Amino acid sequence: MSISALMSANQTLIAAGLADAIAVLPSQPARLRDAMHYSLTQGGKRIRPQLVYLTGNMLGACQQDLTPLAVAVECIHAYSLVHDDLPAMDDDDLRRGKPTCHIAFDEATAILAGDALQTLAFDTLLNATLSPASDPQRIDVIRHLSAAAGFAGMCGGQAMDLDATDKHISLDALATLHRKKTGALIRAAVLMPAVLTKQPEPVLDALHQFADSLGLAFQVQDDILDITSDTETLGKPQGSDLENHKSTYPALLGLAGAEAHAQQLFDQALHALDALPYNTQQLKEFAGLLINRNN
Ligand code: IPE
Ligand code: IPE
Ligand code: MG
Ligand code: MG
Ligand code: MG
Repeated sequence: MSISALMSANQTLIAAGLADAIAVLPSQPARLRDAMHYSLTQGGKRIRPQLVYLTGNMLGACQQDLTPLAVAVECIHAYSLVHDDLPAMDDDDLRRGKPTCHIAFDEATAILAGDALQTLAFDTLLNATLSPASDPQRIDVIRHLSAAAGFAGMCGGQAMDLDATDKHISLDALATLHRKKTGALIRAAVLMPAVLTKQPEPVLDALHQFADSLGLAFQVQDDILDITSDTETLGKPQGSDLENHKSTYPALLGLAGAEAHAQQLFDQALHALDALPYNTQQLKEFAGLLINRNN
């Protein structure tokens, strides 16, 4: 199957999984439920759930067991975006081509929607029916996601991002920040299916290296697009980083330097896949699409 056919089949599974996650919630409080529905199910490239399916299929996971992992990582991601856009953080008013959650609803509702999307991720993993082969690995999967989402991962990275505002930081410090704020969830998307299928250490190591380089490349490209793209294509305000005086790769390396670095990271990601005893073609093609994306 071509990568585009596979991705569109995955999109159908992802959309259904996310819709189901909201559909099973009680109808009240309706405003909070509506805000969660708005932020989880409308738009978005679904990169992290795609990585769950592509990695899991490569490793021979039971397809049905992958859906809760895909839904959970997208719930954490959606929550991170709702909070990232808040006035106290990036103060943006457009996301996925629509008003951000706090604009469409209100700030308090957006905070709570983020909170509840976060716990929805863990509810999903805790309550999913998994196949007998996968079930014993449930706690390990949860351990990966919680570490990626929290202090050591996304939240810690967002704190570093705020701290690095209006400052010049070193390239190493910026790499650490990006690896946490964005890389951690991308690594979790790749490693959760690996843990679910009980991969041996060398496979986990190679996948970790792949996802680490890919996750960093993904945020470098996000930084580049903030400058080179436009608001309509991005579905979020172009120039937000400049306006907020963020530490970014183009700010540190210049645009051409950042582009060269993204390419180098992409090559590293592909190289890491060569160590795997699996057919990595689809993951390679997907990585290529990510690095060449325009939004
Ligand atoms: C945006 O992530 C925030 C970053 C971590 C760079 P995505 O580019 O995956 O956003 P959506 O999900 O497609 O909207
Ligand atoms: C956000 O990084 C990373 C998150 C943890 C949400 P950005 O602030 O660059 O993401 P965008 O550009 O608003 O999507
Ligand atoms: Mg931000
Ligand atoms: Mg932002
Ligand atoms: Mg950005």
